Amino acid sequence: MDGLTEDQAPATPVELFALWFTQALAAADAGLLYEPNAMVVSTVDAEGRPGSRTVLLKGYDERGFVFFTNYDSRKARDLAANPNISLLFPWHPMARQVIVTGVAERVAREETVAYFRTRPHGSQLGAWASAQSSVIATREELDRAYADLEARYPEGEQVPAPAHWGGFRVAPRSVEFWQGRANRLHDRLRYVVRTEQDGAAAASGWTVERLSP
Ligand SMILES: Cc1cc2nc3c(=O)[nH]c(=O)nc-3n(C[C@H](O)[C@H](O)[C@H](O)COP(=O)(O)O)c2cc1C
Repeated sequence: MDGLTEDQAPATPVELFALWFTQALAAADAGLLYEPNAMVVSTVDAEGRPGSRTVLLKGYDERGFVFFTNYDSRKARDLAANPNISLLFPWHPMARQVIVTGVAERVAREETVAYFRTRPHGSQLGAWASAQSSVIATREELDRAYADLEARYPEGEQVPAPAHWGGFRVAPRSVEFWQGRANRLHDRLRYVVRTEQDGAAAASGWTVERLSP
């Protein structure tokens, strides 16, 4: 199994994430990995109780990692009380795992609207039909809500983005890249954000540290 060494670590975690993500997409194309952009998102509520669920990564750059969800969902309510968040990419068939910790913030409304327009018609209606994370009496209730929306917005008709739906961007504080190795002597390189104050100007960079497996 190939390892991960410090000399393979670029200056920023987004560069290494881009490389690993490209390789995860290739592994998915080869049938080795399913849903390469699936990540486990963990949040805590106002009482400090944790919750985890799978969500799809829809974009990333040096500003952070973006996913879309319902702003009334449990995860969104958790984030309103406590914006600290963790994202975990379980790329098991590649003996890899990436763990991001950071702070989540809603994306700009225009970004949500632009992304919503790219979604299939059925998914757009689904975002309206589902009051995500709320208790519902029956499956029929959901199907009825969907059918009513379908009648109102038939295929080909523009569906507006619901106000209760949108993106979060996770600005990373740390990003750990885990590469499985023989004898459980795995490689773990963690990028930790570093902010340096130079007079009035603050410059940020990344420190790379190796963790014992
Ligand atoms: C593979 C997979 C991908 C998913 N992607 C999303 C997603 O992008 N956004 C989302 O809100 N829920 C997604 N879900 C559903 C969530 O796991 C979860 O059930 C939902 O967001 C409600 O979570 P909450 O009640 O903790 O807020 C996905 C589930 C799976 C299994």
